[in-house]
Amino acid sequence: MDVIPGAREVAGCRVCGATDWQEVLSLGLVPLANRFLDPASSHGDEPYFPLRVLSCRACRLMSLDHVVDPEILYRDYLYITPESETIRRHMRNVVDLFCERFGPEAGDLVVEMGSNIGGQLRLFAGKGMRVVGVDPARNLADVAEANGIPTVPEFFSVDTAAAVRDSHGAAKLLLGRHVFAHIDDLAGVLDGAERLLVPDGVFAVEVPYVLDMLATTAFDTIYHEHLSYFSVGTLSVLAERHRMRIVDVARSSVHGGSVLVFMARRGSKWRSTAAVERLRGLEHDFGLYGDRVYRRFAEDVMRVCEELPRIVRGIATEGGTVAGYGAPAKGNTILNVCGLGRDVVAFCSDTTPLKQGKLLPGTHVPVCSPQEARLRGPDHYLLLAWNYAEEILRKESGFLAGGGRFILPIPRPVLVDSAEEAVEALQSAVQL
Ligand code: TYD
Ligand code: ZN
Repeated sequence: MDVIPGAREVAGCRVCGATDWQEVLSLGLVPLANRFLDPASSHGDEPYFPLRVLSCRACRLMSLDHVVDPEILYRDYLYITPESETIRRHMRNVVDLFCERFGPEAGDLVVEMGSNIGGQLRLFAGKGMRVVGVDPARNLADVAEANGIPTVPEFFSVDTAAAVRDSHGAAKLLLGRHVFAHIDDLAGVLDGAERLLVPDGVFAVEVPYVLDMLATTAFDTIYHEHLSYFSVGTLSVLAERHRMRIVDVARSSVHGGSVLVFMARRGSKWRSTAAVERLRGLEHDFGLYGDRVYRRFAEDVMRVCEELPRIVRGIATEGGTVAGYGAPAKGNTILNVCGLGRDVVAFCSDTTPLKQGKLLPGTHVPVCSPQEARLRGPDHYLLLAWNYAEEILRKESGFLAGGGRFILPIPRPVLVDSAEEAVEALQSAVQL
C-alpha cells in the first residue's frame, strides 16, 4: 500500500465501523479543488491525491478512500459563501424552518460550525438570538469578527464545544451547513454537540444529498473536501449510535440537491415527522441499500466524461471560444477528470475577488472577474456553477440574446439557451 504524504487511507467506516466496502468509482489523481494557484509562483509541487469513492455495505455511507489532512485543506480557505440570491433565500429559509419547527426564544444561543464569514448567523442574530461561529479558516474568521459575528477560529470538537459553553452557555441550536460532509471525526462532533446543547437542543446538519448526487450524475460533488456522501438512512445510524434521533428533514436544491437534517436527543420532547420516514422509504426504493445503483452511477459518470470533452472540443475545433462560468470547487473536478485544460477553456469567470487573478488547480485555467469576461466575449460558457443555473441564465440574458450558449455539464452534457431549458434539463433527472 502506498503511503501518500498529507493523506491517510480510510480503514473502517466513519459511521458504523464496518470494513466491507464496495468500490464505486475512481477518478484518478486529482489536485485539491480549492487550492487556486498564484500565477507568480511556481506550481511544480502542486499536490495530487487519489480521488476514489467507496460505499459501506453495512450502513451505505459513501466515502472517499483517502482523507487529506484538514490543516492542509482549511487553515487558509478560499471559499467564501457567494453573494447569490439563491443562497440568501436559502439561508432565510433555514432560519424560518428552525424557528417554526422548534420555536426558539430571543436570547437563545445558536452556534454554527463552518460559519464562514457569518452570513447565516447574521440572520439568526436578526431574530434576536445570540450567535457564535466556529470556523478553522483564520482568514474568514477575521472577516466574520469584523462583521460583528463572534467567531472561534478552530475546528469544531468536544474541546471547542466545551469552550463555547463555558463562555456563552448552552446552545439551543448547533448548525453545520455544508461542513459535516467535510469532517472525518464524526464521533467527536456528535460528542461536541452533546456537550454544547441544552437538553431539548437541536443539532442540524445540511449535506449534499446522496440521492440527488446519484440521480443527477453529479460526480463533481466529489472532491477531497467531501469525505462523506450521506443519506438520511446513514445519518440515522450515526444519530442512533450517539443516543440521538432524526426528528425532521427538509430537501432543497442548493448545491445541486441538499438535505437539512435535524437531530435531537433520544429523550427530548421532539418527535419525528412523517417526512423522515418518507425520505428513508424513497432511499430504499431508489436502491441505496444494494450494489447496483452505485455501479450504474459509475457508468453514468464515465458517459459524462466522454460526452463533455467531445462537445467542448467540438466547439473549439469549429473556431468557437469556451470559457468556464464560475470557478467552484466542483468545477475543478469536472475539468481535471475530463482533461479540459487551458487549450480548450480560455478562462473562468468568477465573482469571488479572492479567486480572480488566480489559476485553477491542475488545469491552470486563469480566473477573471465577470467584467473582464464580458470584455473577452466568449461564445460559449461551460456552466461549472450549474447549481445556480436559473439565477445565472436569467442574469446573462444579454449574452444569450447575442447568440451565446451555455453548456450544462450535469446531469448530462447539453447546450442550453434559456433559464427554463436549463431548469428542465436539471429537473428531468430528479424524478424523486
Ligand atoms: P459554489 O457552487 O457555491 O460552491 P463549491 O465551490 O462548493 O462547488 O460555488 C459557486 C462559484 O460560482 C463561486 O466561486 C461563485 C461563483 N459564481 C459566479 O461566478 N457567478 C454567479 O452568478 C454565482 C451565483 C456564482
Ligand atoms: Zn458504515
